[in-house]
Amino acid sequence: MDSISLTRPDDWHLHLRDGDALRAVVAASARQFARAIVMPNLKPPVTTVAAAAAYRERIVAALRDAGGDAAVARFEPLMTLYLTDNTRADEIRRAIDSGFVKGVKLYPAGATTNSDEGVTDLRRLAPALEEMQRGALPLLIHGEVTDPAVDVFDREAVFIDTVLEPLRRTFPALRIVFEHITTRHAVQYVRDSSDAAAATLGATITAHHLLYNRNALFAGGIRPHWYCLPVLKREEHRAALVEAATGGDPRYFLGTDSAPHARGLKEHDCGCAGCFTALHAIELYATAFEQAGALQALEGFASFFGADFYRLPRNRDRIELRREPWQVPAELPFGDATLVPLAAGRTLPWRLAAPA
Ligand code: NCD
Ligand code: ZN
Repeated sequence: MDSISLTRPDDWHLHLRDGDALRAVVAASARQFARAIVMPNLKPPVTTVAAAAAYRERIVAALRDAGGDAAVARFEPLMTLYLTDNTRADEIRRAIDSGFVKGVKLYPAGATTNSDEGVTDLRRLAPALEEMQRGALPLLIHGEVTDPAVDVFDREAVFIDTVLEPLRRTFPALRIVFEHITTRHAVQYVRDSSDAAAATLGATITAHHLLYNRNALFAGGIRPHWYCLPVLKREEHRAALVEAATGGDPRYFLGTDSAPHARGLKEHDCGCAGCFTALHAIELYATAFEQAGALQALEGFASFFGADFYRLPRNRDRIELRREPWQVPAELPFGDATLVPLAAGRTLPWRLAAPA
């Protein structure tokens, strides 16, 4: 097979940043995807509908400035609110009524990049969560506990037992996306504890967690460009994620978690978490699916299941991938700095064809 034609995919978990960084990265996503769920972990975080509307305007302006083809101009940012201890039900109601806010993001305080204002006690947020449940506005969860006593590789599994399961018992109809799952525990939890037809629980999976295990972090030395949160796990977990992504189960769908950081902040004595994959996301996913002998399952995962979960129409236009090996650039411009994409310098077998 030398080419693959797919319904244009969407990215259900993306960090676009702001300012010069936004202008540097937004066109990459827009060339590949029709829409993206845009994460709200700016500094300060996007906590209100008014802030989300203003951020959306800045993204649209950056897209306009980026020029490029028609797909770039058509790219649709789907906005999210950042849940804090102070999020009130009336703000959630405004989000539901806005039409452009498609989810609310739960970062346990301190779990990851720019999450200091995240939630310390979910019980205080019952009114907001009830409103989301009533209005079918999905809660998007960074599923890691932050207790420093819990091993960093176990934080997702512990989160399932201590936070996610109790939350779902309290709010059984709340629609939840378990974001960027990284373990067989999460794969199993999504599969065994939810009814696919009811569609109350979905999960996104990144390309890097499908392609790499934690050895990539230490291959010949410490590799900061492979460091993200939740951190890469053992091979058995990667294998479980591949099985989930390629199995045609609509509860698992594409979310790149592309998270750009300036090169100097990754190659640092306290390097930032986040891998930049927006440039070559669909090529990375195609590589993972082909390695699993499951290219035929890529379209459902990348282009259908996320839209279905979010109750949005599937895209109508298509993209084409060609078997045309190319080398991932060593670095890219990023405002005053540079950015190192995941797998920089490596060769990928598939390449997104430029629009005709
Ligand atoms: C993300 C970022 O840099 O904003 N980093 C990451 O490692 N994934 C935050 C996040 O999604 O956890
Ligand atoms: Zn993320």
